[in-house]
Amino acid sequence: MEIISLPKNIGYSSLARFRMELYQKYKSKLHINLDLNRKLVSFQENKKIPIYSWFKYKEGFTARLVNYIFDKLKIENGTLLDPFAGAGAALFAARLRGINSVGIEVLPVGVFSIEAKNRILNNKSTTFIKEIRKILNNDFLKFYTPQLKFKNIPITNGAFPIENERKLLGYLNYCKKIKDNDLKMALLFLGFCVLENISYTRKDGQYLRWDFRSDRKRSENLFNKGTIYSFDDAIKEKLNQIIFDLTSDEEQFDFLKMDKNVQKVKMNIIAGSCLEILPTLKANSVDIVVTSPPYCNRYDYTRTYALELMYLGFTDEQIKKFRQTMLSCTVENKDKVNFLKDLYFKNKNNAGFEKVNSVFDHQKALHEVLNILDKLAFNGKLNNSNISRMVRNYFYEMCFVVFEISRLIRKNGYFVMINDNVQYSGHEVPVDLILSDFASAFDFDVEKIWVLPVGKGNSSQQMGIHGRNELRKCIYIWRKK
Ligand SMILES: C[S@@+](CC[C@H](N)C(=O)[O-])C[C@H]1O[C@@H](n2cnc3c(N)ncnc32)[C@H](O)[C@@H]1O
Repeated sequence: MEIISLPKNIGYSSLARFRMELYQKYKSKLHINLDLNRKLVSFQENKKIPIYSWFKYKEGFTARLVNYIFDKLKIENGTLLDPFAGAGAALFAARLRGINSVGIEVLPVGVFSIEAKNRILNNKSTTFIKEIRKILNNDFLKFYTPQLKFKNIPITNGAFPIENERKLLGYLNYCKKIKDNDLKMALLFLGFCVLENISYTRKDGQYLRWDFRSDRKRSENLFNKGTIYSFDDAIKEKLNQIIFDLTSDEEQFDFLKMDKNVQKVKMNIIAGSCLEILPTLKANSVDIVVTSPPYCNRYDYTRTYALELMYLGFTDEQIKKFRQTMLSCTVENKDKVNFLKDLYFKNKNNAGFEKVNSVFDHQKALHEVLNILDKLAFNGKLNNSNISRMVRNYFYEMCFVVFEISRLIRKNGYFVMINDNVQYSGHEVPVDLILSDFASAFDFDVEKIWVLPVGKGNSSQQMGIHGRNELRKCIYIWRKK
């Protein structure tokens, strides 16, 4: 591995004195890891991997990355925790290796996807599959009645061609009446996995993009999505894919063969915010954390996964509430200071609360960026004046996460985090170094920060204005002292 040197084109001016100092402090820990690449860290590669490919969770990391981390750190047993579990990449990789796991996930999209995949893996008998096949031969229009409607969520209105919407509603109506919970969940999961394919929408960064055939004629970003699948075709194809994965003996499905031997492995998914749940978990109960929190980049999961949330029955109000409960990563997030204070004081952990606040307050590089962003916002020079609030809250909340995990993880246990640096109006936020400095304040040794060989710019708009600064995309390896 190569030790990274300061990129020449990042202008550390006098405005960046504390970031420069922080960089000097951790310079020797930054290593370009040539084993890593974008494909390994993004969902792309999962498209061919059983379990991982069933539901497309674009923000997920790959099975191979988690396995790489396990191999490199020689993790063979114990308990893994992922406080931002998503669709469960880390948990399933652990399960297949015989490692127990606990995941925490705030959005029902991830929780449902993990639970359904787990049930299907536990119940992959031929009779079960035959039963599903038989059910899918129904004409679900027969179970549709005009009274059936999706709850009114403005951003998903008119998302499906009318025939698909009716079949989907009929299908949900049919599923509602099924008594066998495993069967019901498997069927609901199949429908859940095809929503994007049978709709006029495509997930695209912060919003859903709409096809020109939809009735959103006034939207500026209409595009041609290509084939919009019929409900029947899409759901049968999804079932075939899953059956193929479950029954195939081919070598590439080694994963599932391993799984047969590790049925006893415990996998526990807790629905809710890790800010609330981590303080309730037992100290020294975790051997390794592998996680990827939301990035500090304005990406809105509740909008991207609005179709899936609607399908699961959530209302607009509930979705807005999820947005506020999530780790702050959008400009709409309000701060959670009072919430956290009440939580820690109620748990009689005033000292913990004060400690986190002190670590946060003393992180000079962070406050240097925040001051700059505040000034830019004040002068109307940020393209959204709430960006500085978002960055502040992101780190404030992450400081609690790191503090709690330090309590949970055993001596010598690893905390591995995948995260991207960001920049706003040309001002770099060294997320890797700031979070590593928090970790070091909470009893972790910052062993290494693996840097992906090629970084990325923030947005094409920003690159135009500020030149192409490479932003580090990293995997942090922290070890509990
Ligand atoms: C980058 S994704 C993780 C993807 C995951 N590694 C995977 O492979 O599927 C971040 C996840 O954190 C979840 N999240 C955000 N705020 C959270 C919170 N306060 N508590 C728990 N999960 C949260 C998001 O819903 C999202 O699924």
